[in-house]
Amino acid sequence: MRFHAALPVLLAISPSLAIPPPDFGFPEAPNDTALSITYQNHGDPILVTEAELFGVGITSEQPTVAVETSRFQSISSYNGSYVLLMVDPDARYPQDPTSRFILHWLQTDMTPDAQAPDGTSQLINSTQPRAPYRNPSPPTNSSAHRYILYAFFQHENFTFPPAFEGYNATNRTNFNLTLFLDESKLGRTPAAAMYFFVSNETQVPQDFTAAAGGTYPGGNGDMITAGPGPSITPTTTPASAGPSTIATGSGSSESSSASGTATSTATGSASSASATGSASHKIVGLGVLLVACSMALLNGV
Ligand SMILES: *[C@@H]1O[C@H](CO)[C@@H](O)[C@H](O)[C@H]1NC(C)=O
Ligand SMILES: *[C@@H]1O[C@H](CO)[C@@H](O)[C@H](O)[C@H]1NC(C)=O
Ligand SMILES: *[C@@H]1O[C@H](CO)[C@@H](O)[C@H](O)[C@H]1NC(C)=O
Ligand SMILES: *[C@@H]1O[C@H](CO)[C@@H](O)[C@H](O)[C@H]1NC(C)=O
Ligand SMILES: *[C@@H]1O[C@H](CO)[C@@H](O)[C@H](O)[C@H]1NC(C)=O
Ligand SMILES: *[C@@H]1O[C@H](CO)[C@@H](O)[C@H](O)[C@H]1NC(C)=O
Ligand SMILES: *[C@@H]1O[C@H](CO)[C@@H](O)[C@H](O)[C@H]1NC(C)=O
Ligand SMILES: *[C@@H]1O[C@H](CO)[C@@H](O)[C@H](O)[C@H]1NC(C)=O
Ligand SMILES: *[C@@H]1O[C@H](CO)[C@@H](O)[C@H](O)[C@H]1NC(C)=O
Repeated sequence: MRFHAALPVLLAISPSLAIPPPDFGFPEAPNDTALSITYQNHGDPILVTEAELFGVGITSEQPTVAVETSRFQSISSYNGSYVLLMVDPDARYPQDPTSRFILHWLQTDMTPDAQAPDGTSQLINSTQPRAPYRNPSPPTNSSAHRYILYAFFQHENFTFPPAFEGYNATNRTNFNLTLFLDESKLGRTPAAAMYFFVSNETQVPQDFTAAAGGTYPGGNGDMITAGPGPSITPTTTPASAGPSTIATGSGSSESSSASGTATSTATGSASSASATGSASHKIVGLGVLLVACSMALLNGV
């Protein structure tokens, strides 16, 4: 009786869990459908947890990517391949994301391997990447950037949009994610997703790791842990008039080693960032759930 009273509360709350958090305003995988990302740090596997904090050394090499076949019915009931995307919404600076999105990885035709003993199926590319994995490299004077990895179901309607043919190993900036998803017919709901932070500030050791909600050496500065951050409006218009309005790439890199043509101004409001990442969203969510459950129990008594 008591648990039956609590059950509708559970059902009402669990669908709101998404990766990345809905308040980011970016595409989000429903039902907390985690994409399993594993980096190798000097031979030690690091399985990424949501909103984890890293130094640049951890994410320097292409990770393995897997879908959690045994955990999610939406994944296990799908037979086809996946499109993998990795984007940085915070380039060049979280407070001034003029290069949003930087495309870090774009790989179509990712085929799930046989299910491993841990219940996951590794995604294996059967074609060349459109844009091969590029390691996170935020400027040394930037707060940590968010990096989001998505796997989308590559349904039979998928076609690579001609307007995006220009993205490749060298052209990475101002990738319009929603336009790409619309034109490719992938839809705006990823099959699975994961996100984490990376900083290359001078105080941050290359192999630094901290759990969600943690703090980098030197503080989190303008790191965006809730909400989308500043919105961007297209600042560059394509030279050639066309039916679509894709922002052109500026050719600039997110890396500080690039030509250094950033025109941003630092606001330096170090106080604005606090540990309000997804972990604390979950803690708040859990608190709400516990309160709701105990109320349901009290009512049932
Ligand atoms: C939602 O996730 C839970 C595990 O977290 C899983 O048991 C359930 O099957 C998932 N639902 C769908 C529709 O994938
Ligand atoms: C998966 O593939 C098998 C064999 O090719 C087929 O019988 C089955 O209907 C497929 N399931 C889905 C959900 O597409
Ligand atoms: C898969 O991608 C890697 C780079 O990530 C590439 O070297 C390899 O050739 C690709 N495999 C196929 C079958 O195209
Ligand atoms: C991190 O910054 C250092 C300079 O402090 C630079 O030498 C290195 O290339 C940067 N690493 C990455 C991955 O951007
Ligand atoms: C593919 O396109 C057809 C025709 O527009 C549509 O009926 C179908 O639902 C689409 N399939 C998927 C998986 O989106
Ligand atoms: C990058 O590719 C996009 C999409 O094809 C294109 O619109 C843009 O002009 C390219 N940028 C550069 C710097 O070549
Ligand atoms: C990538 O595409 C751009 C145009 O978007 C082109 O100028 C450049 O040569 C291409 N680079 C490679 C490696 O194909
Ligand atoms: C991205 O494309 C959408 C249309 O799908 C458009 O509304 C939006 O302004 C574009 N964003 C940028 C930054 O160009
Ligand atoms: C970072 O440093 C570059 C020069 O190295 C400068 O142009 C830029 O304004 C600085 N940005 C911030 C946010 O401090």
